[in-house]
Parts: sequence; structure tokens; C-alpha cells
Amino acid sequence: MTSYQSAKEEIKSTADIVELIGQYVQLRKAGRNHVGLCPFHAEKEPSFTVSPERHTFHCFGCKKGGDIFSFWMEYHGSTFPEALRDLAERYNVTISEGFSQAAEKEKAAKRQNLYKINEKAAAYFQEALKDPAKGQAARDYFKKRSIPGEIVSEFRLGYAPDEWEGLVKDLKDHNADLDGAVEAGVIIPGKKRGYYDRFRGRIIFPIFDLRRGERVVGFGGRVLDESLPKYLNTPETPIFHKGRSLYGLHSGHKAIREKGRAVVVEGYMDLLALRRHGLGEVVATLGTALTSDHIRKIKGIAREAVVVFDPDEAGVGAVLKSLPIFLNEGLRARAVELPGDHDPDSFVNAEGLDRFLELLDQAPPIFDYYLEKRLAQRDSDVEGKVHALKEILPVLSALRSSTQRSLYVRRLAEKTGVREEALLSELRTLDKNPSQRGVGRGLKERVLDPQTGKSYGDLQLLNLLVHHPDAVSRLMECGSTILISDPTVTQIVEALFQEYRKNVTVSPENLEDSLESEAACIKLREVLIGRSYYSEGEVEQAVREIERKAYQKRLSESLKMAKGDIEGLNKLLKLKAQGPLRS
Ligand code: UTP
Ligand code: MN
Repeated sequence: MTSYQSAKEEIKSTADIVELIGQYVQLRKAGRNHVGLCPFHAEKEPSFTVSPERHTFHCFGCKKGGDIFSFWMEYHGSTFPEALRDLAERYNVTISEGFSQAAEKEKAAKRQNLYKINEKAAAYFQEALKDPAKGQAARDYFKKRSIPGEIVSEFRLGYAPDEWEGLVKDLKDHNADLDGAVEAGVIIPGKKRGYYDRFRGRIIFPIFDLRRGERVVGFGGRVLDESLPKYLNTPETPIFHKGRSLYGLHSGHKAIREKGRAVVVEGYMDLLALRRHGLGEVVATLGTALTSDHIRKIKGIAREAVVVFDPDEAGVGAVLKSLPIFLNEGLRARAVELPGDHDPDSFVNAEGLDRFLELLDQAPPIFDYYLEKRLAQRDSDVEGKVHALKEILPVLSALRSSTQRSLYVRRLAEKTGVREEALLSELRTLDKNPSQRGVGRGLKERVLDPQTGKSYGDLQLLNLLVHHPDAVSRLMECGSTILISDPTVTQIVEALFQEYRKNVTVSPENLEDSLESEAACIKLREVLIGRSYYSEGEVEQAVREIERKAYQKRLSESLKMAKGDIEGLNKLLKLKAQGPLRS
């Protein structure tokens, strides 16, 4: 075993997979497994399954799955070496060098370098804010915006002085990799030569990753006056994606889990103001509309989101646009509209947190809010209603839960005055034309009925091998692979036998690494996570049956071959002499 493999094994045996995944996905116990809503695709019925016995997770909807490393990589968008390092750190396992393939290693090193550069830049901005002369205007600005020193240090706020080569020079002084800094987006190559600072004369909000909160993935910078653009952000880089970032998630994570809800605002300042007033469970999109990425991150830790966007047209538009995404993702959501021209920052500073909390408590479900807005916007005339219906019906048609569907249809009928029957018939038309629907697959094609499913013979064998390791040697010796019709099952069974030949034991949960196709990995996980078809008492009979069938099949194949062939005939005789059972 190479050193990284043993580190991997050690981490796997230390980590509690339910506890680890449970920090990102709400899981509930279901028999021997734990289930929850899949963080990797939109769903409303939990098909994401974690098996503590097998140290495995698997989503029966989108088929993603694997061990804790696969989860970490998928969830955090990281490479294997990064996942290994993160988890090793978390579980106090030391790993020796030289564990990864060259390409992966390079990718990870590159990202590592970007984090390092961002860290240097963040330190530079923080220092500049403290600088007695240079930082004065920025410190005054924070004071004016009621941002106290504790928030400044907690969020590592800083200042980019109004200089073309402030950060460039600082990076040079520290012998930093300037090309890397360009890639990190903090400096920009000059037209002719040299580099210049991206952020100039702006207060700086470092944006952290949600993984550990200590890694800076990007920055936002605000001017101190009314000039434009008001905010400037790090461009898209390998470690920063604006549409996926939730500002404040790293520090709000715990409060969100505890409260079971996330308050979602639009701006950096909104978030900081609410935090200052003591609201922990708040995150901010970076001025973008909510994406399913955002919502998946939230729904893993909260039961509900409350969106508080600015009451301007853009803000209301963003709330309306988010409704289909909330419905698709199955996260309950409510919407708050602030009075007057307030945004959350100005509201909480003017009225205090209690008033804000009252508004949160009174907030209507986002569906109702949507209908109010859509119908009011168009003076509730026929045109307006048709427009709203055209937009909302495909969303409802995509809902998997029929109770939810009829609930919404009823409310839609109430609000629009269109008869429920007419709406339902409209929905049925949409159902027949699924190309118009976003999601909504039945459970049927993902579960093979063990009684009637056509690959039952294959699954019977695989199920025995996985759940009853004692039977492996007999099933191997009787040549049971001859019975398999599905090539992915053959792949798994052969890998398993090979493992057995090497070690005289098998641990099917560690077999994924030796499987070539994704399809085989998926199939293996589904058997691993599922139950045994046989009780201990039934195993013997099942093995005998397979032995008998394998024998018969070889016999009949040999018969076919043996027509007019002496050698084949001899083979056949030998087989017959052996008989079906070896023991
Ligand atoms: P707002 O214009 O509502 O700003 O943009 P704000 O957060 O209330 O800021 P203050 O109170 O005027 O200081 C909301 C968010 O949209 C993004 C930023 O993330 C901002 O916090 N934004 C806004 C940009 O990225 N670029 C812009 O030019 C403006
Ligand atoms: Mn504001």
C-alpha cells in the first residue's frame, strides 16, 4: 500500500461519515441508513443515502456517491489531494508526500498558490486600513456606516489605498508570484509592461470559502463616495465563482444550523449590519440573483430561507426569479419586503433588530409574495393573469410531490380567480409534454424490483457476494460469472474475485478504486447500501442454486461447441464427471 492509501484508510476508519456529511446535509435515520435531500441535484424527496456500515453515500436520484473523499471533492469542488489534506487535518492523520498523480497535484498546487496570494493581499489591505495616514479615510467611512472595530477584525475588512502599484509593490517585496496574482485577480497586467492594482481607493471585503473560513477566495471592494462602479469584485478564477459564493456563510454556518433558517440578503453591508445587531443566521449573495448552487448550500443546513432583498425593481425581480428555483430545490422560502427605501442595512440601523425580526416573522411564503407581485404588477387584468400563469404552471408541473402541487394549484385558483379544474387541465397538458418541464423524474427507473426486474439474476449473485463474503470462494470456484448478462456486473464481480485471489478476503466497500466504469461504481454502491436479499439461513440454498445454474450453463455451452469436435466432447465428459457440486 502506498502511503496515501494507508492515510486514506486511516482517515476513513476515524471519520464518522454520518457526522461529517451531516454537517452539510440534514440527515435523518431510516433503518440502517441515513437519508436526506441530495446536495448535488434538485429534489424534494430524499434519495440521498448515507450508510455508516459501508462508509458510503449514494444518491439514488443523480447517482453520485462514494466515500467521504468523494463527498468532500464533490461538495467543495476540490481535487483528491485537497480533500485528502483537508480531511487528514480534520482527523489528525499525517500523510507523507508523493501521493498524487502529477496533473492533480499541479491543479491543487495552482489553487493553493491562489489562496496564498489572496492571503497576502488580504494582509496588505488589513495593514493599509491600520496605517495612520493612508487608512484614515477608510476608518472614517466604516465609522460613518456604523461598522465597529470588532466586525472589522472578525471579517478581516481592509482598505486598498488609492495607488496604482501599492499591492504590486508589496507583492514584489515579498517575492510573490506576480503571474499568480494576475490569475487571482488582484492585479492586472499593464498595456505595455508591468502590473497595476485592481482595487484602488476602496474598502475591501475579503470573501472566504465555506470550508474553513480561513481561506480567502476573492474580494469585494467599495468606493468611499458615490463614484461608479460602486462595488468591484474579484473576477471568476479557479477558486472564486460569484454565483456560488455566499458571503458570511463560513461564520454564519453554525447559527443557521441552530436556527434552522437562513436569512438571505443582497449586500456586504447588509450582512455586516445585521451581524453587528446580533443576527447570526444571515448570508449574502454578492448582488446576484439566487442560484440553485446557493440554495443547495443553504438547504443542507436549514429548513427554510427568508429572502430580504432591496425593495427596488432589481431586488423584487431577483426575489420573483428565485421562486422557481426554490420550488425546484424544495426549500421552503419566505420573502420580506422592507418599508420605504430601506435596505436591510439602513433598516436595522434605523429601527433596530427587534423590528427586523418582526418583519421576518410576518413574512409570507415566497409563492404568495410572487403571486401578489405578479398580479399587482399587471393591474390584475386578464393579460396579467395569463402571463403569471404561463410562468408559474410549468414550475408547478415540475413539482414531484402531488400534495404540494394541489396545494399550490388551490392557492393559484384563489388568487387568480381561474377555476381549479381549468388549472389542473392545463397542468395535465404540460405533463404530457415534459420537454417544458425542468425536473421531475419518477422513482421507477431508478429502482430495480428485485422480484421482477430483468437483471435480477445478476443482482442476485452480486447481492450474495457483497452481503455474504463467506460465500465468495464457492461462487468463484463454480464459475458463476458465466451467469451474468450485464457487463457492469461482470466488471464488479471480477474485481471482487481478483481481490479475493490476492488477499483471501474482500471488503466490497473498498472496491470502487479497482472499477473502471462509473456505471459499475454506481451499481456496486446501490447493492452495498441496499439490504441483503437473503437471511443467513437462506444463503446456503442460494449458493447451491447458483452453483447448479452455472454448471448447467457451462454444460449446455460445451454441448453446443462439442458438435463434431472431439476435444470439446472430452471437455464435456470431464465436466460431467465433476458434477455440479465440488464440496
Ligand atoms: P447594492 O447596490 O444594494 O449595495 O448592491 P449595498 O450592499 O446596499 O451597498 P451600500 O449600502 O450602498 O454600501 C448589493 C450588492 O451587489 C453587489 C455587491 O455585492 C453589493 O453588496 N454589487 C453592487 C456589485 O457587485 N457591484 C456593484 O456595482 C453594485
Ligand atoms: Mn445598502
